[in-house]
Amino acid sequence: MTQRWKEIDTYVKEWLKEAGQKIQQSFSKELLIQTKSNPNDLVTNMDKEIEQFFISKINETFPEHHILGEEGYGEELESDEGTIWIIDPIDGTMNFVHQQRNFAISIGIFEDGVGQAGYIYDVIHNELYHALKGQGAFMNNIQLPKLEPVPVEQAIISLNATWVTENRRIDPSVLSPLVRKVRGTRSYGSAAIELAYVAAGRLDGYITLRLAPWDFAAGKVLIEEVGGVMTDLEGKPLEILEKSSVFVSKPTLHDEIFRTYLEGKWNK
Ligand code: IPD
Ligand code: CA
Ligand code: CA
Ligand code: CA
Repeated sequence: MTQRWKEIDTYVKEWLKEAGQKIQQSFSKELLIQTKSNPNDLVTNMDKEIEQFFISKINETFPEHHILGEEGYGEELESDEGTIWIIDPIDGTMNFVHQQRNFAISIGIFEDGVGQAGYIYDVIHNELYHALKGQGAFMNNIQLPKLEPVPVEQAIISLNATWVTENRRIDPSVLSPLVRKVRGTRSYGSAAIELAYVAAGRLDGYITLRLAPWDFAAGKVLIEEVGGVMTDLEGKPLEILEKSSVFVSKPTLHDEIFRTYLEGKWNK
């Protein structure tokens, strides 16, 4: 690892711990909850505070870096040139508000469009997943093994029930045969946690129809380091600054699910 990434890594881990403590302390205080695009799209004072916390730390320490954040305190970026931090201060806000668990801070750092570092911090379980390009992926600093193939009938896939009921993005008949075929399905309500779980082998795959860059940036770096495959539902590579469907899984499983259940079917 170069000295530069060692330095960045040390800072991010320190800031994540501090942000995690702020979140823990917020549980004993009153939470201010607002809605965004619809009554179920929640945002709290903590989402905003944590994003602003990271932005001020990054600006202070790495003034030449760019920042994209879900809550809009960063920049509006048109180009992926330079060093870009992609931040989701709380991924899984609905869980944060209703369950006080199963949410995470997600930070991906990209350089000229290439993922260099990814951090997903599950504050409540004190699980910090991180990856550095070419160095591997880790959970609480213990290296995660490369993902091994699994047959579809033994796979546990993360999938929101929305995608097998009437919705405006995918016909329910596309994914329901897959749901019947796999060993089991799960839904955690935090894309970052779901991606970290695929990287850690707790899930064999994750399928979703719409994510934003801050939902998947960190996870993408983790998945690449353990040899997982991550594309959109058409099998195309993800554009780091674009919203997209996401299909991530263990290596041969990706191919099997793509050919049998997705190819030419979901966006007809
Ligand atoms: C959401 C979560 C959720 C996913 C949504 C995201 P947020 O992020 O990751 O699991 O299904 O698409 O918007 O808004 O809680 O940061
Ligand atoms: Ca949100
Ligand atoms: Ca999110
Ligand atoms: Ca969020």
